[in-house]
Amino acid sequence: MSSNPTATAVACANIAFIKYWGNRDSALRLPVNGSISMNLEGLVTRTTVSFQPSLPFDELVINGREVTGLGLERVSTILNLIREMAGIQERAEVITENNFPSGAGIASSASAFAALALAGSRAAGLKLTEPELSRLARRGSGSAARSIPGGFVEWQAGTGDEDSFAFSIAAPEHWELADCVAIVSASHKKTGSTEGHALAPTSPLQEARVADAPRRLDLCRRAILERDFAALASIVELDSDMMHAVMMTSSPALHYWQPASLSVMQAVRQWRGEGLPVCYTVDAGPNVHVLCPKAEAAGVEKKLREIGGVVDVLKAGVGGAAKIVNGD
Ligand code: DP6
Repeated sequence: MSSNPTATAVACANIAFIKYWGNRDSALRLPVNGSISMNLEGLVTRTTVSFQPSLPFDELVINGREVTGLGLERVSTILNLIREMAGIQERAEVITENNFPSGAGIASSASAFAALALAGSRAAGLKLTEPELSRLARRGSGSAARSIPGGFVEWQAGTGDEDSFAFSIAAPEHWELADCVAIVSASHKKTGSTEGHALAPTSPLQEARVADAPRRLDLCRRAILERDFAALASIVELDSDMMHAVMMTSSPALHYWQPASLSVMQAVRQWRGEGLPVCYTVDAGPNVHVLCPKAEAAGVEKKLREIGGVVDVLKAGVGGAAKIVNGD
């Protein structure tokens, strides 16, 4: 065990261009298909982990509030994996803060579990490689695997636990894109991602969506590497619509869109038809992520704010890798 049992890490949220929806092993969070995302600069979770011999149980404080129950259990699952790897017994205190509003349509689980994997392993005296950290973060939340590397990131489905991790396909500086998140509702989603993944196989459309995933991944990867916005726009919107088609045809059905979500999506398609480089993608909630080159972001934000039902717009550029900020 390290002489300093405390470490603090910061990790960005991410937005998926090609979505993760459905697991082939839900305990290990092995996805049915690979996914690609962009880290969101400035939308971060900062987490401090300290292993303390005096603690009888793990403790979790999120944004100043003590959390018990399922939230704590999910964190302890990751801490148990870390304790096993490091050969230690001590319980930990985990203090975590998100700098973006909860319920803003930005999943905090990706940045939270990436920061926890990095801070926790470092506090336990481990120096894990990037693939090892990504695999560890994946066990807490699948999308967290993608918040470990920087920039534009691909999570390969892999053949098992060992090779299901994410890696960077391009650095943040490769392409100056922005995500303008049109907030249409700040209320918490009814069905969270974890329950949603379990429903994916009940949709008759999921099989076709998964079978076509390698083609979409190739098109998306190529669009990023070639900085081809038109190609990116068509594959990102197709992938989002395919995931929502699966959600809407699951049993029970999951309808995440609200009328204002559709207003934004229709406006984005119209603007693109008029020549503006812009496209949409929607996660497991009603808010719409509108992607565009960074140079267009201020104009896009202004137009989004004029749409009825849009209550706020958050903007983010391309973010870097998860990092230790002290406790090294
Ligand atoms: C729609 O990673 O939040 O945002 O592994 O159960 O924590 P858990 O699920 P999560 O699922 C993300 C679903 C998505 C698409 C994506 O980010 O790829």
